[in-house]
Amino acid sequence: MAGPTESRHGMWSNRWLFVLAAAGSAVGLGNIWKFPYIAGENGGGAFVILYLLCIAFVGIPIMMAEVLIGREGRQSPINTMRHLIKQHHRHPAWVLIGWAGVAAGFLILSYYVVIAGWALYYILQMGSGALEGATAEQAGALFAEFLDSPIELIFWQTLFMVLTVYIISRGVISGLETAVRWFMPMLFLLMAVLLGYAVTSDGWSQGVEFMFRMDFDSLTPDAVLAAMGQAFFTLSLGMGAIMAYGAYVPSSASIFSTVSIIAGLDTLVAVVAGLAIFPIVFANGLEPSQGPGLMFVTVPLAFGQMPLGALFGTLFFLLVSFAAITSAISISEPALAYLVEEYNARRGRVAISLGVISWILGLGTVFSFNYWADVNVLGQPTFFDFASFVTDKVLLPIGGLFIGLFGAWALPKTVIGAQLGIDGGFRAVLWKLLAGAVAPLAVLVVFVNTLLG
Ligand code: PHE
Repeated sequence: MAGPTESRHGMWSNRWLFVLAAAGSAVGLGNIWKFPYIAGENGGGAFVILYLLCIAFVGIPIMMAEVLIGREGRQSPINTMRHLIKQHHRHPAWVLIGWAGVAAGFLILSYYVVIAGWALYYILQMGSGALEGATAEQAGALFAEFLDSPIELIFWQTLFMVLTVYIISRGVISGLETAVRWFMPMLFLLMAVLLGYAVTSDGWSQGVEFMFRMDFDSLTPDAVLAAMGQAFFTLSLGMGAIMAYGAYVPSSASIFSTVSIIAGLDTLVAVVAGLAIFPIVFANGLEPSQGPGLMFVTVPLAFGQMPLGALFGTLFFLLVSFAAITSAISISEPALAYLVEEYNARRGRVAISLGVISWILGLGTVFSFNYWADVNVLGQPTFFDFASFVTDKVLLPIGGLFIGLFGAWALPKTVIGAQLGIDGGFRAVLWKLLAGAVAPLAVLVVFVNTLLG
C-alpha cells in the first residue's frame, strides 16, 4: 500500500537536508520580528510555556500530518490530494486543501518579500554607518522616509523577489538544497554571535527578565490566541509548504523525530532572537516597540549607539535576510510544483511567472505604507493588513485544521501506520487523538474566537 518512493521534482539528499530546509521555512520573519515582541508583551515566561504547549499539541501533530500526506503522494499538494482522494475514494472537496494553500502562498509571498526587502535595505544602512549615533527621531525619520518612497520599496522588493526566483528556478537540489546548506549554518552562526554580543551588554538581565518573568496574570484569552496563531505561522503550517517539502523526504526518515527536531530548532531561534534583541534595546534605555517599529527603528537605533554597532547591526539584518529567503522559497513551492506537473512546464519559466504575479500583488503591500495608507480593504486598515489577516488568521488555520483531519481520519490505517512507523495500538490511537481531534479542535476554537473578536 506504500506510495511512490521518489518525486519527479527531486529528493532531499538525506533526512538532515529536509530538517535544514523545513527549519529554513519555519525560521523567518515570524521568529525574529514577531515572537520576541508578543512573548514580552503577553506575560514573558508564562506565555512561552503556553506557546510551547501549542507547538507540542497543535504544531507538531499538524506538521506531521503535512509530511505524512506529502510523502504518501510525492507530488505538489494539489496533485497529492487528488491522488489520495482517488486512491482511497474520498470526497473530492478535500482537494480544496491544496488550492487554498496555493492562494495563501501567493498572498503570503507577496507581502513577505516586501518586508524582507526592508531587511536588505537595512543591511546597507547599518553597514554604511548611517545610523551611528542616530537619535530616536533620526532613526524613526529614516524608516518613515523609506516607507514614504514607493520607488525605493519597490526596488528592494524586486531585488528580494529576483533572489527568490533565482533560487527556486534552480530546482530542489541545486536551488533549495544549496540555499539551505549555506544560509542555515550562517544563520545559526550569526545568532550565536549576536547572542554573545547581547550577553555582554548592560541590558542582559533586563532583557532576560522581560522575556522570562512568570507573569501569569498577563495570560488573557488574547494571549492564548496569540500563542496559537504564532505557533501556526512560525511553523509554516496550513498552506502546504511543509506538505510540498514532505514530498521530497526519503521514505526511511522517521516523521515524528524529524518534525520534533524542526519544531525544536524553530523555537530555539525564536527564543534566542528575543535574547539577542531585548538586552541591546534595554542597554540603550529604549522601550521595546511593536511590529515593524521594533525591528526597523528600535533595533537599528540600539545598534547605532553601541561599540561596533555598525558591524553587529549589519550582521543582524544579514541574519534576518537569510531567515527570510529560506522561508520565501518554501512559500512558493506548492504552486511551483503544481504548475510544473500540470503543464509539464520548465521550472525556471514557472518560477518567473510566479514571481511576477506575486510581485504585482506585493505592490498592494508597498502602497499600503504610502499611497494607500488610508485605504481600507474589506474591514482591514490597509491592503497589507488584509493580506496578513486573510492568510495568518483565516487560510492557515483552516488549512491546518483540515490537514489534521485528513491525515488522521481520511487515510487508511495501513497508510498511516507505514508512514509513521507504527502498527496500530496505543500510538495509532494517540495519533488520531492529537492530529484528528485535539489539534483541529484547538484551531477551531482559535478561529471562531478570532472571527468573533
Ligand atoms: N514560518 C515563516 C516565518 O516564521 C513564515 C511562513 C509561513 C513560511 C507560511 C512558509 C509558509 O516567518
